[in-house]
Amino acid sequence: MAFSLPKFIGHRGAAGYAPENTLASIHKAALLGTSWVEFDVQLTCDSELVLFHDSSLERTTNGRGLLAGRCLKSLKDLDAGGWFGSDFTGETIPTLNQALSTARELDLGCNVEIKSSFGRERETVRAFARTIVNFPKSPTILVSSFCHVTVQMLKHYLPEVRRALIVQKIPANWQSLIRRMQCSSLHVGEESLDQRQVQMLQSTGMRVLAFTINDRKRAESLFAMGVSSIFTDVPGRIFSPMTVSI
Ligand code: G3P
Ligand code: MG
Repeated sequence: MAFSLPKFIGHRGAAGYAPENTLASIHKAALLGTSWVEFDVQLTCDSELVLFHDSSLERTTNGRGLLAGRCLKSLKDLDAGGWFGSDFTGETIPTLNQALSTARELDLGCNVEIKSSFGRERETVRAFARTIVNFPKSPTILVSSFCHVTVQMLKHYLPEVRRALIVQKIPANWQSLIRRMQCSSLHVGEESLDQRQVQMLQSTGMRVLAFTINDRKRAESLFAMGVSSIFTDVPGRIFSPMTVSI
């Protein structure tokens, strides 16, 4: 499905203002005028997809240990908001289904970043494909991953959903990677980007998105290089919603 992306995408919802990867964070991004959000998803031990960034629970919940070793029910008992601020105490880890419902209700596009654990890539992609296929009136979705195996499998299991490869730095073999995975965009760590690279990618029709930028000047210089969109934790701070082109 063809779609256009806004210049700014709320990162992990609006991670600068609310606990990342929670429904509160997605609501906050919408409130700040963002029309798309990025969030990370991972597989639980009982094959459910939940929003979560780290492999372990300590930084963003009151739990301990690895997320992948826990079932959905036990993850749902954790507090995923109190670490960020007392206003968010009681916020829980959302399922992918809950996040999609929230995005649909708020009319947000979603960049779903799949963080597969090693050896569970197929199971993760199949759970994702099942969720998307069974989700009524799904929001617009762009799916991305750092993991090459995951992106390849997405092409197989969900060919109609747009894909992106995420890289910290543009690899030497980017052209063959992109061709093999048939991605519509490359999402690149902002520290490594320069104008020559962005133009080289653009000349092949590839869109370049950069993460994670929380500074207006840096955002402007990336746009001047030809970057299409940036991921930001602080959408309201670095742009006026009125200037976003969609
Ligand atoms: O998808 C862009 C960005 O979120 C990738 O890095 O570690 O913040 O998920 P990370
Ligand atoms: Mg991410």
